[in-house]
Order: sequence, then C-alpha cells, then structure tokens
Amino acid sequence: MKVYFIGAGPGAPDLITVRGARLLAQADLILYAGSLVPEAVLEHARPQTPRYDTARLHLAEQRELYARARREGLTVARVHSGDPAIYGATAEQMQLLRELDIPYEVVPGVSSFTACAATLGAELTRPHVTQTVILTRASGRASPVPEAENLASLAAHRASLCVFLGGHQLEQNVAALLTHYPPDTPAALVQRASQPEERRHVATLGTLLDGLKLSEWTLTTLLLVSPALGSVEELETFSRLYDPAYAHRFRRAEKGGEA
Ligand SMILES: C[S@@+](CC[C@H](N)C(=O)[O-])C[C@H]1O[C@@H](n2cnc3c(N)ncnc32)[C@H](O)[C@@H]1O
Repeated sequence: MKVYFIGAGPGAPDLITVRGARLLAQADLILYAGSLVPEAVLEHARPQTPRYDTARLHLAEQRELYARARREGLTVARVHSGDPAIYGATAEQMQLLRELDIPYEVVPGVSSFTACAATLGAELTRPHVTQTVILTRASGRASPVPEAENLASLAAHRASLCVFLGGHQLEQNVAALLTHYPPDTPAALVQRASQPEERRHVATLGTLLDGLKLSEWTLTTLLLVSPALGSVEELETFSRLYDPAYAHRFRRAEKGGEA
C-alpha cells in the first residue's frame, strides 16, 4: 500500500507526466484538488475508481480515507495541480502519512508557471537581463506570506517574478511591484494555462490593469512580470551556448573562436 502525490500539471490532460498517468491508471482510490484539477486529467484513471474532491474534506476526513486505504491495502493517487512542491499544502499530509506509518512517494508535475511561460512563448531567464525566477504568492488567510518576503521587497531584484494565488488582489500586487520595476517592464496575466478556457493578457506592468475587468481574472490566474518577456529585438541578449565561436566540453569552437 502506498500514497502517490502526483503533480497533475496545469490542466491539459496530456501535460501530466507519463509516470503520473500510469500511477493514476493503477490507483484504487483518488483524492484530488477539485478546484484546480480538471476532470479531464482524471480520465487517466479507471472510470470505476472511487474519487474524492479534497476541497470538500478537512484533514481529519482525509486522514480517515488514508487509514481506510491502509486497512484495505489500497494504492492511493493524491492528485495536486501543477507540481506538488509548490502551494499544495502537501507538507501536512506527508506528516499525517508518517504518523500513520503509510509510505508515500512524490511524482513531480509541470508547474503552472512553466505552462504560462510556454503559452507566452517566453524564456524567463535571459543573459544580462535576469537569471533568476522568483515564485511567490499573495498572502492568504490559510497561508500568510512572511513579512520578510513582502512583494515590494522581492520586486527590488527586478528578476522574473510569478505571483500565484493573487487574482483577488491584482491592484495591490501591481502597486507593490511598481515600487521597483519600471512601469514599462513587460507583464502578463495568464488564466487556466493549457486548458480550453485559457486566456492571456500581455502588456507592461504600468498598463496591465488598464480597462481590464478585474472580476474576470480572480481564479486560476498567474501574474508574471519580467524584463525577460521583452521581444528578442528589444533585448538582443542571447546566451553564448550556441554561438559557433563558443567552445565547451561537447563542441569545438569554429575556426577563430575560443579554444
Ligand atoms: C494552490 S496553487 C497551486 C500551484 C501548483 N502547485 C503549481 O505548481 O502550479 C494555485 C494557483 O496556481 C496558479 N495556477 C494553477 N494552475 C494554473 C493554470 N493552469 N494557469 C494559470 N495559473 C494557474 C494560480 O495562481 C492559482 O491560483
């Protein structure tokens, strides 16, 4: 008997990993975060496998399901959106499983921030622009963000920055970011990346919210701001990795290049 924490990916059923899909197909019991994991992803499972939306269950109820699975020797798929390591409230479940002496394993997933970068057709790290990606979230009642990590202080790095779970306070977030990012920094909102309802809104940080109906962007939305989102022509900053004159362990430089 084992519990598999499976990263479902951003929502497209073919963006779960091969391992995640295989384990989902083998599971005897499924617990999933219904507010974020679309039904389509669960189609990897056998149709008759019992499944529980954890949005409706508190931890004690989940504990009871895990204890039952242990008694009955069931394999459990615990499905989280994106990657389970980020904003999944998985730590308390893992603690619970340790208390119940239930073995568990984590299967990583495609996080929504990489799915958002993909749909924007962007690389979040660009030489001489930024080589850092900051993942943060809006403070929530259930999970406050430590004061030392307030958004304005993170903005001071002017790195690529993604705000999760912040759709309900976009104005506050943009104002905090503008304390350090210049208003012409490229920014985007992506909602339900990879899903049929996906929406993108690309602008500069200073104009991002102009004319936007904020109430339409509250759920399953990621805010990205990054000088790296600028167009190639604007930035003209490339890595030297594929430069013909650049040599490394696996490739010689062309004549006239460095040794
Ligand atoms: C509880 S967090 C889970 C994050 C998840 N573990 C991950 O790695 O993407 C939920 C937040 O992730 C972001 N999110 C999740 N799926 C998304 C998607 N398909 N498109 C855009 N943002 C998404 C939103 O900011 C949403 O409020």
